[in-house]
Amino acid sequence: MATKLFSPLFLRTVEFRNRIFVSPMCQYSALHGVPNDWHMVHLGSRAVGGAGLVIAEATAVTAEGRISPGDLGIWNDQQVKAFQAITSFIAEQGSVPGIQLAHAGRKASTAPPWKGGRPVKISDGGWQPVAPTAVSFDDEYPSPRELSQSEIAEHVSKFAEAALRSLDAGFKVIELHMAHGYLMHEFLSPLTNKRTDEYGGSLEGRARFPLHVAKAVRDVWPSELPLFVRISATDWVEGGWDLEQSVKFAKWLRDLGIDLIDCSSGGLVPHAKVPVAPGYQVPFAATIRREVNMPTGAVGLITEAHQAEEILQKGEADVVFLARALLRDPYWPIHAAKELSVDFPWPVQYLRAKT
Ligand SMILES: Cc1cc2nc3c(=O)[nH]c(=O)nc-3n(C[C@H](O)[C@H](O)[C@H](O)COP(=O)(O)O)c2cc1C
Repeated sequence: MATKLFSPLFLRTVEFRNRIFVSPMCQYSALHGVPNDWHMVHLGSRAVGGAGLVIAEATAVTAEGRISPGDLGIWNDQQVKAFQAITSFIAEQGSVPGIQLAHAGRKASTAPPWKGGRPVKISDGGWQPVAPTAVSFDDEYPSPRELSQSEIAEHVSKFAEAALRSLDAGFKVIELHMAHGYLMHEFLSPLTNKRTDEYGGSLEGRARFPLHVAKAVRDVWPSELPLFVRISATDWVEGGWDLEQSVKFAKWLRDLGIDLIDCSSGGLVPHAKVPVAPGYQVPFAATIRREVNMPTGAVGLITEAHQAEEILQKGEADVVFLARALLRDPYWPIHAAKELSVDFPWPVQYLRAKT
C-alpha cells in the first residue's frame, strides 16, 4: 500500500526516505558541549529504527546559550570532531543527520529536569543569561542582561559560524530554534521584547534579529542543503505572539530560502494555558502550509501510525516530528510500517527478527 508517511521527501538535493522525523530532544548529558557515547547511541538508535531525519538536540552556538551545563554545543572544533562519527553513523543507516542550532536566552543556565530544572547560580557553575530585555522568566530566574546592538550582531555571526561548523560535522539539515521561549522567540514576542530600538516594537522590529540569523545562516549553508526553522506558532497568551504573526513571519522566512517550518508552540511564559491533546499543534502546521504555501512539519502528541498518516493525507503537514513516542520506542518507524502494511527495509543485521 502506498502511504504518505513512507513516501520519500526531497528538499533541495536531500532525499528523506520517509516523513518520520526525530524531533530535537535535549539529553543534558554532554560535558563542555561535546557529544559522547550517549549521543551516539541515542541518535544512532533512532536512525537504526528507521526515521527519515534524526535531529540532534538544541545545540548551543555559544557556551552561554546552553539551557543547561549538559547541553550540546557547536562553538569549537572539538565538538565538531566528536559529532563526525555520529553523523556518519546516522547517514550509514539511510537516515539524514540534522542539528538544531539554539541559544537559550533568558532560559539559559538551568539544571537538567531530573535535578529539578531550576536556574543554576553562577556560584554553582551557572552563568549570566542574556535576552532582548531584562525581564526574568519567573521569580526564581535571575534577571537576564539586555543585549546591546553590537552583541546582537555578534550573535548573528555566532549562528553563521555554528552553521559552518555543522557542515564540517557532517550534518545535512540545520533547524534554527526560534521556539519555546529561547532567545529568538524572546525577540519575536511582544511579551518578552520591550526594546525601543530597531530590534523591538513593531512585528518587523521584533523579527529583525531572527531574520538576520536566518539570512546569515542561509548565506553560508550550501544551497544544496535544506534549512528549517522551528517556531512557537503561539504563546497561548492574550497579547503575545500568535498564529497571525507566525504566518507573516513564515512568509519572510520562506522568501529568505527557509525550506520548512516546524510548528510547535508555547514555552515563553510560565502562566500560559496550553490545551494539550493529541495532535493539538497540527492546525498551526496546516495553516502555515496553506497560507504561506511552503512545507511544514507537525509536532506534538503524534503517537500513532494512522494518526501520522492521516495528518499527511489531509495535507496538514509534509512531515511529522515525533519526540516522546520515539523515546519510548526507537523502532517506531519500523512498527508503523508494519501497521500501515508497508514493506520497510529493516537493518540487515536484524533481518532474522522480521516476521
Ligand atoms: C526530553 C525532551 C527534550 C526536548 N528537547 C527539545 C529541544 O532540544 N529542542 C526543541 O525544539 N524541543 C525539544 N523538546 C520538545 C520536543 O521536540 C517536542 O516538540 C515535544 O516533546 C512534543 O512532541 P511529542 O509529543 O512527540 O513529545 C524536547 C522534548 C523532550 C521530551
